[in-house]
Amino acid sequence: MLLVLERFIGVLLVLVAVCMAVHGQRVKVRDEVTGYLGQEVILQCIFNPGADSSIKVSQVTWVKSVNGKKVSIAVYHPTHGPSYPQEGTTGRFSFQAPTLKDASLVIRPLKMGDEGTYTCEFATYPNGNEEAETKLVLLAVPKNSAQAVPVTTNYTETTVATCISADGRPPSQITWQSSLTGNVSTSQINNTDGTVTVVSQYNIVPSSQADGQSVTCVINHKTSKEPFRIPVTLSVQYPPEVTIEGYDDNWYISRSQADLKCIAKGNPPPTNFHWSSTDGPLPSTVEVINNLLVVKMVDSLVNTSFICQVTNAVGTSSSQLKVLVRGSPNNSGAGATGGIIGGIIATVVVIAVVVTVVLICKQQRKNQTARDNLDGPPAYKPPPPKLKLQSTEDDKPLDTGTEVLLKPVLLEPSSMVENSNGGHLKYQEVPMTEDCMDFQRTSNPSMDDDYLEQINPIYNELSYPATVSYQDDKEFVMSRAMYV
Ligand SMILES: *[C@@H]1O[C@H](CO)[C@@H](O)[C@H](O)[C@H]1NC(C)=O
Ligand SMILES: *[C@@H]1O[C@H](CO)[C@@H](O)[C@H](O)[C@H]1NC(C)=O
Ligand SMILES: *[C@@H]1O[C@H](CO)[C@@H](O)[C@H](O)[C@H]1NC(C)=O
Ligand SMILES: *[C@@H]1O[C@H](CO)[C@@H](O)[C@H](O)[C@H]1NC(C)=O
Ligand SMILES: *[C@@H]1O[C@H](CO)[C@@H](O)[C@H](O)[C@H]1NC(C)=O
Repeated sequence: MLLVLERFIGVLLVLVAVCMAVHGQRVKVRDEVTGYLGQEVILQCIFNPGADSSIKVSQVTWVKSVNGKKVSIAVYHPTHGPSYPQEGTTGRFSFQAPTLKDASLVIRPLKMGDEGTYTCEFATYPNGNEEAETKLVLLAVPKNSAQAVPVTTNYTETTVATCISADGRPPSQITWQSSLTGNVSTSQINNTDGTVTVVSQYNIVPSSQADGQSVTCVINHKTSKEPFRIPVTLSVQYPPEVTIEGYDDNWYISRSQADLKCIAKGNPPPTNFHWSSTDGPLPSTVEVINNLLVVKMVDSLVNTSFICQVTNAVGTSSSQLKVLVRGSPNNSGAGATGGIIGGIIATVVVIAVVVTVVLICKQQRKNQTARDNLDGPPAYKPPPPKLKLQSTEDDKPLDTGTEVLLKPVLLEPSSMVENSNGGHLKYQEVPMTEDCMDFQRTSNPSMDDDYLEQINPIYNELSYPATVSYQDDKEFVMSRAMYV
């Protein structure tokens, strides 16, 4: 069993050795070489006999297959030197550094006809010819471009963009990227130099919506890893698209500043606006400023339909708007606005009142300190019952200044009238803070009590907190302010 396997392997090895000899394994070339049109290419070819020193090389030859026939294009002989049978004096072929081991061939400049299969042959003794094949592929870098084809709106399919990949080899692959749904038609032109020009057209039914849209031409070519992209902005000319804005359905007799605005899109942009009305020429009460129709004062003359007609290079379009003139304003839509404004005013008033009250109390505190020196006016208030109990006739240190100033307050006609009429008891009072109360206590209460008892028989009623009315609060605040 083991013996059989050993023999089998031995046979295999022999076969491999035979194959190597037959296929010229000692001649090294590259399977495929690419070169660019007009530039230089090197077809490498090395003979490597290895350890076998018995092999003699007599000559090196490059052979090209032309229409199935083999033609020698370059020969190197150690005695006669290099020769190039097909080239005459053009000198496009040359051995790089010819020896009997290195047959590398330089071709410069490359022509399209150079593309093909080349065989590198070493004439050896005793084995005969040993050879290897290399394929020369010619490339040409294309010149790419793309542009929009300006069109006018049309109901038939039209080319709106063109993309060209010129003079490439091999031919480029052209595709399009777009959010539009267009058809693509592509054609090729075989140039005489062997390059190919590819033309791709992007076709749509051109609408105004397509104007300004972007499409991208994507070009793939063997000479570039990354695709080449060219964005194109479409240009579709279309007649104006007209709308009239500014009518709020609330035009009423003698309203001021009611305007209409004519809005028009178009390519090319419209510049010519013409206003008219269905009743003929415009009423004398309106003024036209290009695309604006200005009504300074609404009257029955503008109770009509207005027409705005717009023209551009492609065409003319118009829009019509019916204006209804009302006898009186329609305020139903303004209800919410009125409520908001009312709320704001109310809030402002409340804040103003609160601020005023705070300021007055502050002012009173100031008076308290000022009173020591200046003997300022006291606040008017009936003393609390507690104070009345404490006071006696004996311990009243009279302050004449205070007395004089108190009198006009107490004898104020309004309060006196109410009291004397015997109606329900009513008098005015400043809302007191703690500070204000303190001030009252320190302002010599006994004097006040005494004085009041003398001039007003119903003072006793006043002296305990009976009905207290704040109803004239504001008015009182005013007089207080004036007083201070
Ligand atoms: C629409 O396209 C057709 C064919 O391309 C052309 O003959 C015609 O003039 C175009 N119409 C307009 C309005 O451009
Ligand atoms: C694309 O071509 C097809 C077939 O020719 C046609 O039916 C279709 O309407 C075209 N689409 C556009 C957007 O032109
Ligand atoms: C261009 O050449 C290709 C093959 O190389 C061929 O299929 C095609 O028909 C040619 N086109 C023209 C317009 O000659
Ligand atoms: C405006 O015209 C309408 C009819 O179109 C009419 O009902 C309305 O009373 C008119 N207004 C004025 C102010 O004349
Ligand atoms: C007044 O305006 C409101 C909304 O703004 C609308 O609903 C209502 O119909 C108008 N009234 C009249 C008489 O047109």
